[in-house]
Amino acid sequence: MAHICNKVLIIPKNVAYNPIRLATSSATEKSGTRLKVFSVYRWDPEHPEKKPYMKDYKVDLNTCGPMVLDALIKIKNELDPSLTFRRSCREGICGSCAMNIGGTNTLACISAIDSNTSNVSKIYPLPHMYIVKDLVPDMNNFYSQYRSIKPWLQNDNGKPIGTEQNLQSIEDRKKLDGLYECILCACCSTSCPSYWWNGDKYLGPAVLMQAYRWIIDSRDSKEAERLEKLKDPYSVYRCHTIMNCTRTCPKGLNPGRAIAETKRLLANLTQKNA
Ligand code: SF4
Ligand code: SF4
Ligand code: FES
Repeated sequence: MAHICNKVLIIPKNVAYNPIRLATSSATEKSGTRLKVFSVYRWDPEHPEKKPYMKDYKVDLNTCGPMVLDALIKIKNELDPSLTFRRSCREGICGSCAMNIGGTNTLACISAIDSNTSNVSKIYPLPHMYIVKDLVPDMNNFYSQYRSIKPWLQNDNGKPIGTEQNLQSIEDRKKLDGLYECILCACCSTSCPSYWWNGDKYLGPAVLMQAYRWIIDSRDSKEAERLEKLKDPYSVYRCHTIMNCTRTCPKGLNPGRAIAETKRLLANLTQKNA
């Protein structure tokens, strides 16, 4: 699989970088068009002998929607049906269109196209992930890490599930604000240098923020077990507070703070109900 890092394409040693190939657009330069070049990372697992490369597409902004995802869909529909990327909701809710646009991990569907046609828009998959094809990263490790924190309500109040509501005070509910909104797009985790180098053992900011979300939920009674599971040298403590995660989150969340709060809980500097 191809492997890339933030902003810089990492090409395996035995492979030469194949320079940009310009796709011919059916749109010709004529008055009334605003052609902009989108340079997109391409890699096809069915041709493993061919190195990853950047392919350029010219898109007329006058006949394209305003977001980068609109341009990708237009390219796929009108110029190159082989271009592969994930998307579903097109409104920043599903997290599937996460990719690296102009050097920033973000969601293509809520990223406005830079209207300056003299700037090339460069689009890569999320950095430091194995690539399934083109802009599609392999999310299996990320999802299994998410599964490992048991992201569901656990309590031992003895009441059979489904028989009563789990009530929560307004104050306790407020503690979940800024945490529950995460759409698990992985923009933060794949911007984190610690996750790049230790992604097999360090859980990364997205998963850690969800771990914290369940630890501090007043309806959950397993905080001791949840914290105990995070006590090894890697799961949490590989976070060095670099804060790339918080800077890049397209939903404006603060996973860096959630990790810092988790460390305080682990060090007994604060308590769940403080
Ligand atoms: S914290 Fe933000 S960047 Fe990270 S997974 Fe959640 S929504 Fe995406
Ligand atoms: S604050 Fe922690 S999780 Fe966020 S980018 Fe830095 S090292 Fe990674
Ligand atoms: S398509 Fe769902 S977040 Fe972009």
